[in-house]
Amino acid sequence: MLQLSFALSRHVLLRKRLLASCKRPAAFMSTLLINQPQYAWLKDLGLKEENEGVYNGIWGGRGELVTTCCPANDEPIASVRQASLEDYEETIKKAKEAWKIWADVPAPKRGEIVRQIGDALRKKIKDLGSLVSLEMGKIFVEGVGEVQEYVDVCDYAVGLSRMIGGPVLPSERPGHALIEQWNPVGLVGIITAFNFPVAVYGWNNAIAMICGNACLWKGAPTTSLISVAVTKIVAKVLEDNKVPGAICSLICGGADIGTAMARDERVDLLSFTGSTKVGKQVALMVQERFGRSLLELGGNNAIVVFEDADLNLVIPSALFAAVGTAGQRCTSARRLFLHESIHDEVVEKLAKAYAQVRIGDPWDSTTLYGPLHTKQAVMMFLDAVEQAEQQGGSVVYGGKVLNRPGNYVEPTIVTDLPHNASIVHTETFAPILYVLKFKTEEEVFAWNNEVKQGLSSSIFTKDLGRIFRWLGPKGSDCGVVNVNIPTSGAEIGGAFGGEKHTGGGRESGSDSWKLYMRRSTCTINYSKDLPLAQGIKFQ
Ligand SMILES: NC(=O)c1ccc[n+]([C@@H]2O[C@H](COP(=O)([O-])OP(=O)(O)OC[C@H]3O[C@@H](n4cnc5c(N)ncnc54)[C@H](O)[C@@H]3O)[C@@H](O)[C@H]2O)c1
Repeated sequence: MLQLSFALSRHVLLRKRLLASCKRPAAFMSTLLINQPQYAWLKDLGLKEENEGVYNGIWGGRGELVTTCCPANDEPIASVRQASLEDYEETIKKAKEAWKIWADVPAPKRGEIVRQIGDALRKKIKDLGSLVSLEMGKIFVEGVGEVQEYVDVCDYAVGLSRMIGGPVLPSERPGHALIEQWNPVGLVGIITAFNFPVAVYGWNNAIAMICGNACLWKGAPTTSLISVAVTKIVAKVLEDNKVPGAICSLICGGADIGTAMARDERVDLLSFTGSTKVGKQVALMVQERFGRSLLELGGNNAIVVFEDADLNLVIPSALFAAVGTAGQRCTSARRLFLHESIHDEVVEKLAKAYAQVRIGDPWDSTTLYGPLHTKQAVMMFLDAVEQAEQQGGSVVYGGKVLNRPGNYVEPTIVTDLPHNASIVHTETFAPILYVLKFKTEEEVFAWNNEVKQGLSSSIFTKDLGRIFRWLGPKGSDCGVVNVNIPTSGAEIGGAFGGEKHTGGGRESGSDSWKLYMRRSTCTINYSKDLPLAQGIKFQ
């Protein structure tokens, strides 16, 4: 009992220390990173000490001033003036007006402007990638990778701008044509999460634009500088092409602005990326007004390793999926199911691989593993480790906060939990991997599917029959179903998204563009008669 209360008070003290270190008195403002010579490149992205967080053709913002902090050292970077509700109102009106012009631009011309956005991003890829590292906390190559994704999806969208179209269907009536016509929905609201502060906007923005929509973006408040820097690049392209900047409006803000977007009938499609908890509230608000939403919510992704798997693929895959981005990808592996015959060997090899992971400043080119994004995330990590232990888990690697500035925690492996322990069924957005033992294909496929989320999943096997059972109706129920590769690291060419509590949305490649358009079924009579369908005579 005494031991327990000691542990609890230690936990409370740690919480207090963590919370205290995020609060920055005004005196710290003079030491903003943007003013230090090694971060001078921030100014090349058009950033200043205090930035305006609203863009609708002109820059502004009358809301709260938010200073974002670097997760690797707790230092304040620069500030962004968020949007007030008045700014929101003004911006949405301008975005709706801008749409009227944009919808009349032929799709291939829209594609040409999106191509220029891709080129402008290419030129800034290093600086923008560095900003992602500095403000979000992911390692530099992943920061650059995010901008690359936006570039890639721009290229994809350029091609698509000459290809979107509907079929001409056979009509049962003589002298009639039956066609499907696709039109833009109008204004696409885009709310994004902190963990992909460039790519997720890019997936939505490039496709929505070539479809003929205007966009209104609200990023996460903790990555506001990234939202401003991206919008500066996009805005310049729009302005150079003499089309209204409000086609790509930005409205930095928190839950108040997000809620306003969800409730607003003028937002024709609301694309929301974030947690299942907030996504559900947003979906209900949109549904209440019979609006359209596209939901990209939480995951609880599993890797299943069969006895015939190539362990040379398994170990680096599990490492990348669980430890990459410090476990802060929606597709991060949270559950690792190992066949009982290889369980101990894989755990031992994986723990050795974890010990090799180079922890450091995310912008240092040798670093593989950086900090968590916020202090709250560190607390969630600690809570989850504590709960895992209470539910019977054994921490075989990590489990602790690292004693250094910033939000660093140890990448963590937990064994011995039952597959249905409540903590295993919870998405903790941190690098904790639950390793679970299984005996049969049937049970492990069922366990893969038993969580509420349905985003990503992978199996490792050489058995062809098993691979096709995994892809088939009784296999994985996720939106992303992989074989012999990790759960994370999707390509833009495919449709991305997940089922069940992941929300059912699809973004990026394949035919995801259809979600950004409305379909009309059109029947045109070019004869002099009026035959009715189904042979009905009305005379
Ligand atoms: N499926 C995917 O494609 C995908 C991709 C990235 C992240 N995610 C998920 O996002 C989560 C992590 O991101 P997070 O912590 O930023 O998520 P979050 O739900 O806390 O926030 C997401 C966004 O919603 C906004 N928001 C908060 N309250 C709101 C409200 N009441 N109304 C409208 N908007 C509101 C936030 O400001 C932010 O912009 C994880 O669950 C992760 O799995 C999913």
